[in-house]
Amino acid sequence: MTKIFIAGHRGMVGSAILRKLALDPYVEILTRNRTELDLTNQAAVDAFFAESSIDQVYLAAAKVGGIYANNSYPAEFIYENLMIEANIIHAAFKHGVNKLLFLGSSCIYPKLADQPMREEALLTGSLECTNEPYAIAKIAGIKLCENYNRQYGNSHGIDYRSVMPTNLYGPGDNYHPENSHVIPALIRRFHEGKINDAPEVAIWGSGTPKREFLHVDDMAAASIHVMNLDSGLYQQHTQPMLSHINVGYGSDVSIAELAVLIGKTVGYKGKITYDSSKPDGTPRKLMDSSRLNALGWQAHITLEEGLVSAYKDFLTAGTHLDG
Ligand SMILES: NC(=O)c1ccc[n+]([C@@H]2O[C@H](COP(=O)([O-])OP(=O)(O)OC[C@H]3O[C@@H](n4cnc5c(N)ncnc54)[C@H](OP(=O)(O)O)[C@@H]3O)[C@@H](O)[C@H]2O)c1
Repeated sequence: MTKIFIAGHRGMVGSAILRKLALDPYVEILTRNRTELDLTNQAAVDAFFAESSIDQVYLAAAKVGGIYANNSYPAEFIYENLMIEANIIHAAFKHGVNKLLFLGSSCIYPKLADQPMREEALLTGSLECTNEPYAIAKIAGIKLCENYNRQYGNSHGIDYRSVMPTNLYGPGDNYHPENSHVIPALIRRFHEGKINDAPEVAIWGSGTPKREFLHVDDMAAASIHVMNLDSGLYQQHTQPMLSHINVGYGSDVSIAELAVLIGKTVGYKGKITYDSSKPDGTPRKLMDSSRLNALGWQAHITLEEGLVSAYKDFLTAGTHLDG
């Protein structure tokens, strides 16, 4: 039996990893919710690892939020994320956990990184100001893994890895009317448009920016794949100081294409309009996932299929949220 701790198992990504690992009869899963274990509390995290004999850790816990939250609570974003990562990674090392997977985000890359973004773009330019505190904490998480490997890899047999997902969507997403990502926000708006027979749904911006989206079940599969990769193969495709791996779908869509697809999935029959007076943001944001592809994994869930499961999730969870 492999004893696996999933940090953040109630979150969107952690719960997808939990669903997938639960299918493996040779795995014993360990979870703690925030009231049982506050991951920013160093002494509590240390005591938990000391008594748990953990073999592997998926580090999917983080303080996560949109632009408004990042702008309003920047101290909390940098402090809590640094504490969660440092506490877990150090306690894991101290109490004999050999394998750990840290989850970051594409926001670690410079604002003006070449597209598609390669792993090598890390630390080559300035970050997007709004999420700089969050991104700095995520970069620190990658560097914690790398430097624990460098110092203790040989002596203690540890192998800590990092994956950087693109935009994710699917079950467990946040459908808050003002504070959600583009896919859950559009699902909600088209659904409301359908229910209210609205003649049109207006999309912010021109619809031309292109974005990449990965279903969270694919993200869970990629995470487990990277965790279980043979260490020789992993080292062949990474470097000690450039060890993180991008996880993307491999292609992007324009916001207009996305809107049409979501409208179709939801069954909205009205018109879609674009409000070009609203800002567009970066024209394109796409991960280069060739490193992961060379390591034997690629995404399987198409946007069309994935949106069906996301809308089902919205109907069971999202419509009960009152904002
Ligand atoms: N969603 C995306 O589109 C996306 C894209 C790229 C990368 N990622 C990355 O994937 C990771 C997980 O994201 P997510 O979307 O799954 O976030 P999420 O749904 O907000 O889940 C985060 C989880 O962390 C837990 N957590 C936060 N602070 C904690 C603390 N102090 N003690 C204990 N638990 C704590 C939360 O617990 P509660 O349930 O109690 O709040 C929650 O279960 C993050 O590193 C994020 O950057 C996500």
